[in-house]
Amino acid sequence: MVSIIVGIMVNTISLLALPSVVYLLWCLVSKAWVWAWSTSRTLPTEAQRKLPLPPGSMGYPYIGETFQLYSKNPNIFFALKQKRYGAIFKTHILGCPCVMLSSPEAAKFVLVTKAQLFKPTFPASKERMLGRQAIFFQQGDYHARLRRLVLRAFMPDAIRSTVADIETVALTTLSSWDGRMVNTFKEMKTYAFNVALLSIFGKDEIGHIEELKQCYYTLEKGYNSMPINLPGTLFHKAMKARKQLGEIVAKILASRRESKVQANDLLASFMEDREALTDAQIADNIIGVIFAARDTTASVLTWIVKYLGEYPGVLQAVREEQEEIMRIKEMGQDKNDVDKCLTWADTKKMPMTSRVIQETMRVASILSFTFREAVEDVEFEGYLIPKGWKVLPLFRNIHHSPDNFPDPEKFDPSRFEKSPKPNTYMPFGNGTHSCPGNELAKLEMLVLLHHLTTRYRWSLSGTESGIQFGPFALPLNGLPIRFFRKTSRNNG
Ligand code: HEM
Repeated sequence: MVSIIVGIMVNTISLLALPSVVYLLWCLVSKAWVWAWSTSRTLPTEAQRKLPLPPGSMGYPYIGETFQLYSKNPNIFFALKQKRYGAIFKTHILGCPCVMLSSPEAAKFVLVTKAQLFKPTFPASKERMLGRQAIFFQQGDYHARLRRLVLRAFMPDAIRSTVADIETVALTTLSSWDGRMVNTFKEMKTYAFNVALLSIFGKDEIGHIEELKQCYYTLEKGYNSMPINLPGTLFHKAMKARKQLGEIVAKILASRRESKVQANDLLASFMEDREALTDAQIADNIIGVIFAARDTTASVLTWIVKYLGEYPGVLQAVREEQEEIMRIKEMGQDKNDVDKCLTWADTKKMPMTSRVIQETMRVASILSFTFREAVEDVEFEGYLIPKGWKVLPLFRNIHHSPDNFPDPEKFDPSRFEKSPKPNTYMPFGNGTHSCPGNELAKLEMLVLLHHLTTRYRWSLSGTESGIQFGPFALPLNGLPIRFFRKTSRNNG
């Protein structure tokens, strides 16, 4: 999802990429007139006359502080601002006045308690590309209805029966890694994509999947390009692929209707809605869920591989936990595990691995922040957040504050032996738009880690330091690594 959320910033995918810079300039120029128009025409409201704006600087006319943000790792910009101005500050980015918030209370205010005053906000080109009727862009009744349908397909009761199928996907993914130099992120994307497709269409839908994947790759290539819809541009190709994706989903829907099979995947959940979603609504939401599910999960898995490589003691503890599960299954102590496949119950016996996932999501904070827009003038802690301003809860700052997590830069899974303080840990967001796929994400990570740690070994070359944004925080170059299959279980 975060591809979408961070859509505005995605233009900076690689801080060094020239096309990004060109696009950035394009954004600025195109937004500048809106800024000039709005600042010259809008009269201050009653609230605006009485309350001060948060501290901070709005930078230069038109361009604001866009270059300060994008000329370095954006997280450095956020941390410096917080140090200088405190937990709430204003700035001006990509033609938009913004308020950034880095306290748990402020994030809760925007995402939970007063969520109705802050609507999701995205660049129009991203909405067009994913589909305007997708869940992320909605508020109110239609949003609540979509959320119910998505949650119905991804809650524990619905996904517990898919563990064996996810395991098959994990084993297929890993089988090609032995001895090969792999780009970890790329491989994890393939895994997360296949699990997403499984949970959306079920395991029997194979007819249109290859075609769907090809179109999706074209869409992906154009997602961060300049939104110029002229023949030959990446954007144009992506929009064409988007149209084809809608047609493919329509074909799958038609064959599902004809076959009348009973399923409990996301497609079935959408099709069974009593108020009947249109085919276009279903397509927008299916494409949206693929987007939300793939790169997020793949980024977190890539960071986990990196941290396990850097902390052999932690890797050993995870490996022992996973080998114990394997050992019990092989000895047949667990009478229910006739075929030795992983079960939902097995995934509940992985506390150490679960803490590694939690700590990775805290330290890496792949989604540094999210975007909202104030739908009216809002007062927060004596400051005015004016109507129309963007509001960014900074997840990463909250996850890296020593008030919330002592020694925050240290990778220490044991800190999750105790629950974090309320509203201080939000890798899956919070409130009305929080991640409905979080149970599936955790499950697929556990299943993959079970086989990765028990069957493979790998070591980092020492040159993998560095971070890139694509748009999620990611180890540099997607973490190229050589994995080796263990010849026997004792060959750790
Ligand atoms: C580790 C992996 C994942 C992370 C870190 C993650 C993170 C998030 C976050 C932070 C949000 C809320 C954004 C906001 O408030 O603006 C979100 C929303 C969402 N996520 Fe995830 N996500 C992950 C995996 C998944 C998966 C596997 C799925 C689906 C199978 C999924 C589906 C969605 C959807 C549909 C939304 C939008 C919900 C709404 O607008 O009501 N995510 N995700």
